[in-house]
Amino acid sequence: MSSPSNRNPSKLLEQRLPTYQAQVEEALDRLLPKAATLPMRLHEAMRYAVLGTGKRLRPVLVYATGEAVGLDPQHLNGPACAVELIHAYSLVHDDLPCMDDDDLRRGRPTCHKAYDEATAVLTGDALQSLAFRALAEETPGHVSAEARLKMVASLSVAAGSRGMVGGQALDLEATGRELDLAQLEDLHVHKTGALIRASVMLGALCHPDYDHDRLERLDRYAKSIGLAFQIRDDILDVEGNTEALGKASGSDARLSKATYPGLLGLAEARRHGEELVERALESLEPFDSQANCLREMATFIIERRS
Ligand code: IPE
Ligand code: IPE
Ligand code: MG
Ligand code: MG
Ligand code: MG
Repeated sequence: MSSPSNRNPSKLLEQRLPTYQAQVEEALDRLLPKAATLPMRLHEAMRYAVLGTGKRLRPVLVYATGEAVGLDPQHLNGPACAVELIHAYSLVHDDLPCMDDDDLRRGRPTCHKAYDEATAVLTGDALQSLAFRALAEETPGHVSAEARLKMVASLSVAAGSRGMVGGQALDLEATGRELDLAQLEDLHVHKTGALIRASVMLGALCHPDYDHDRLERLDRYAKSIGLAFQIRDDILDVEGNTEALGKASGSDARLSKATYPGLLGLAEARRHGEELVERALESLEPFDSQANCLREMATFIIERRS
């Protein structure tokens, strides 16, 4: 894939990704109840679903947004854990037989395969609750009670029926049906875009007094990369391989899912993703070099191979 000249090579991200991945891993490990805590099978399954693997792109977006607005990412573990816990819960439920019926996730058996379906349902439920606890209790001390409530509301909308869960409902309704482009975009914006948007918002809301215009620009950036992220996921389902993805490729075709390559073809889906990344980068134009990690994330999202 050719890289337009206004894109930086991912130098910064090469260094930041492993740092932030390790930072959130450690914070998640501390936050999740130990496997020996009763009920042990549930806590073991929660740790299994969250720890050890996963790209952690939503937490990285929280930290990178913190960088962009001049905050110390060391203080953003609460919101970073919160978005990853919602995401991990969404994956556990997404893989259930009543949804996508997948056996492989993050390179190992899905939660309901490693445990059982009832445990997987409860694991998702408990991860969701833990996400809100992380946000309520682990958000940096300088964040006002009002901003904290805004963050809780923002994550709740992004996770719920007007966000990810709503998108999953649209995804199930669309299965086996032809959608037009506007309908497909609406589906993707909700099932995947909403949580990515919330990841950026939570990072920015940790700033005690952030400029309104810049917040709007960050939100526009997040909307574009959120949609681009799911387009890339759809493309990888067609052209990626199961080993590299750590989940079964071809799952969308097997289930007749509504996808971008299905509707537009691979080349046009790719082009659409590229255009969204360009739009995301434009939204960040007034930002200085502190936003470079966010810039590199936009490119990474559309070029990633897993
Ligand atoms: C996969 O998300 C599910 C979608 C929302 C498309 P990721 O590609 O971020 O999955 P992990 O967290 O790295 O496993
Ligand atoms: C799921 O989208 C998005 C979620 C909210 C979990 P997909 O069903 O395409 O995600 P994968 O491909 O199984 O990771
Ligand atoms: Mg799905
Ligand atoms: Mg799926
Ligand atoms: Mg997919």
